[in-house]
Amino acid sequence: MYQPVQLSEDIFYVGVNDRRTELFENMWPLPRGVAYNSYVIKDEKIALLDTVEIGQVEKFLKKLQSVIGDRPIDYLIVNHMEPDHAGSVNLIRQLYPDVKIVGNKKTLPMIEGFFEITDNLMEVKEGDELDLGKHKLQFYLAPMVHWPETMVTYEETQKILFSADAFGSFGTLDGSIFDDEMDFSYFHDEMRRYYSNIVGKYGSPVQKALKKLSGLDIKMIASTHGPIIRSHIEEVIGMYDDWSSFKTGEGVVIAFASMYGNTEEMAEVTARAIAEAGIKEIRMYDVSKTHSSYIISDIFKYKGLVLASPTYSNELHPNMEALANKLKHMGVKDHCLGILGSYTWAGTSVKRLTELGEALKWEIIENSVEEKHTLKKQKYEECRRLGKALAEKLIAERN
Ligand SMILES: [Fe+2]
Ligand SMILES: [Fe+2]
Repeated sequence: MYQPVQLSEDIFYVGVNDRRTELFENMWPLPRGVAYNSYVIKDEKIALLDTVEIGQVEKFLKKLQSVIGDRPIDYLIVNHMEPDHAGSVNLIRQLYPDVKIVGNKKTLPMIEGFFEITDNLMEVKEGDELDLGKHKLQFYLAPMVHWPETMVTYEETQKILFSADAFGSFGTLDGSIFDDEMDFSYFHDEMRRYYSNIVGKYGSPVQKALKKLSGLDIKMIASTHGPIIRSHIEEVIGMYDDWSSFKTGEGVVIAFASMYGNTEEMAEVTARAIAEAGIKEIRMYDVSKTHSSYIISDIFKYKGLVLASPTYSNELHPNMEALANKLKHMGVKDHCLGILGSYTWAGTSVKRLTELGEALKWEIIENSVEEKHTLKKQKYEECRRLGKALAEKLIAERN
C-alpha cells in the first residue's frame, strides 16, 4: 500500500528507492542508495514521465496503479533512455499495449534498439506541445545532459520542469520527497558527486541547456533522481551553472598514492604548509582507499589540487593512473596543480602528472617535488615551498 505523493492536484510522484544496488552503472558506490523518480499526470489523457530501473518495477507498478487505477496510460514520455529510467518501458508497453511512446529523433532508434518496438511511437521536436486536457507539455532537447537523446519536459499549468538526470542526486528519498521537507544541504555533496561523475564531462552542453531553460518560469524541478525541488530552485540552478563552467571555491584536494608512506609524508608536509598559509578547506584522500567518485566530486568543488604518486614499474601508481585517466577523460578545467612524487631507482611519476596537468591546461605550480627514497631535509623544504606557493596563488584570487 502506498500513499500517493502529489506535486499538484493531478500530478503524482511514483518513483522508487533502491537501497540494494551497490554500484550505480556498476561503477559508482551508493552508500545512501539512489532514487529512480517517475511521475504521472492524470488528466483527460494520462501521461507517464519516465519509468524506473527494471529491478524496482514491482514497487513502481503498485505506486502507479494506486494513482491511475484501471485507466490506461495514453502517453509514456521518455526523457532519457538510460536503463535506470527506461528499464521498464517494455513492460509498460506490454501492460498498456495502446500507450504512445513519446521521444525525439534520437530517442526512437534507441527504443527500437533496446526493445525492438517500432510502432505507436510519437516523435516530438524542440518546443512541440502535447495537450493532455487541462495540462499541456512542452519538450526541449537537452543533448548530452546526459546522453544524446536526453530531453526535458515542461508542464505549463503548474510550471513544473521534468528535468531527466539534470539536477539529480544520489541518495534515496527517506520519507521526505520535496526539498523543503528535509535538510536539503544533506543532498549537496551527493548532488555534486552525481553531477561531476555522471554528467561532469558535458559542461558545455549543460551550459547550453541552462541558457535554453532560463526563459521558462519554473516553479518546481522534478528530476529523475533525488529530491523534487520547489524551494531551492535558484540555488540548484546556480550550483549547476558553477559546476558546468568549472567554477570552483577556495580549497585544496590532496590526492595521493603511497605504498609505504613516503609519498604520503610528502603530502602531509605540503598540506601543513597550505594550512599555515591560510587555506581552511583541505581534503586529503588516499586514492587506494577512497573511491575516485568522491575525490572527483571535491575536485569540482575546490580550485587547488595536489597529486602525489610514487613511481610504480616506471609509471604512475596504478590507482593514481586511474584517477588521472578519469580527470583527463572528463576534461576537468581550470585548476591549480601541485605535483609530488617519490621513487626508489628511477622517477617517472612527476613527469606523468606534469603531462596530465599540461593536457588539461591547468596552471602547474613551479618546482614540483620528486624525492628518492624517504623524505629528507631539502625536499621537505621544497614540499613546504610548493604548499605555500599553491596557497598564495589561491589567496591571490580571493577578490
Ligand atoms: Fe543518465
Ligand atoms: Fe539517471
